[in-house]
Amino acid sequence: MSQLTSKVIAVTGAGGGMGQQVVKDLLRNGATVVGLDINTEALSSIEDKNLRSKNIDLLDEASIVNVFKEIYEEFGRLDGLVNIAGIAQAAKSITNVEVSEWHKLMDINATAVFLTSREAVRYMKEKNQGSIVNVGSVSVTRPRPGLQSYVASKGAVEAFTKALALETAPFNIRANVVHPGPADTNMLGKFSAQENEKIEMNKDVFAKSVPLGRLIEPSDIAPTVIHLLSDGARMITGSVIHVDGGRSI
Ligand SMILES: NC(=O)c1ccc[n+]([C@@H]2O[C@H](COP(=O)([O-])OP(=O)(O)OC[C@H]3O[C@@H](n4cnc5c(N)ncnc54)[C@H](O)[C@@H]3O)[C@@H](O)[C@H]2O)c1
Repeated sequence: MSQLTSKVIAVTGAGGGMGQQVVKDLLRNGATVVGLDINTEALSSIEDKNLRSKNIDLLDEASIVNVFKEIYEEFGRLDGLVNIAGIAQAAKSITNVEVSEWHKLMDINATAVFLTSREAVRYMKEKNQGSIVNVGSVSVTRPRPGLQSYVASKGAVEAFTKALALETAPFNIRANVVHPGPADTNMLGKFSAQENEKIEMNKDVFAKSVPLGRLIEPSDIAPTVIHLLSDGARMITGSVIHVDGGRSI
């Protein structure tokens, strides 16, 4: 039997590089998947009766509340939540960062994780089980110059997830963090420094920083996410798992 048969899993950032791969692997493992993204276009090429796509802006609290209510009403259960949605920061020195940029990074990368987790836990508690996987970044462990606000937002994800794991353990709800290393998706280019900034941040620099010698592919990340959602990980909670080719060493 597949690892996730009959489980209902919500995935944010489902239309992005890592998100699409996670959605495909979840479906292959027998899950019913609800893909949440502000841009669900990429999901339309995946033909599977067990996939629902919902266009949603994760900055909008009311939409998040509604979408989780809809999921629970339709399926009568919510077994897993994977928070993959996120945005990059174009590398620049702190003296050039507007507070509005800081807030945007914190809102999408951290506050949205709080909101989706809050709504998911509401329904997971009903069944006394659930698994939440939040995608952070190896930059929390190994920061780079010029990405201070992005790194802070991902650090919040790590701290929040550990606190959530402890709080929800009595309800048999697990919460874990996956920290990817530099990954070969559209996002990578968005970390490049803006004009006039002397911060080197290109694909080559990222690839060379990985001891295993190449960028991380979405297909390197998805199996860890699947495992954390599965019953095989039933005693793993509050963990921080690096999928980074050794970048965190
Ligand atoms: N690519 C990397 O090098 C890298 C490295 C470490 C961690 N990460 C993290 O991995 C995750 C996935 O990154 P990716 O490389 O697949 O990036 P991506 O840009 O391909 O995907 C991100 C997705 O998030 C969605 N999103 C952004 N803002 C949203 C909003 N307000 N509402 C709803 N959806 C929104 C985007 O539409 C997009 O589909 C992110 O959290 C990222 O920070 C990426």
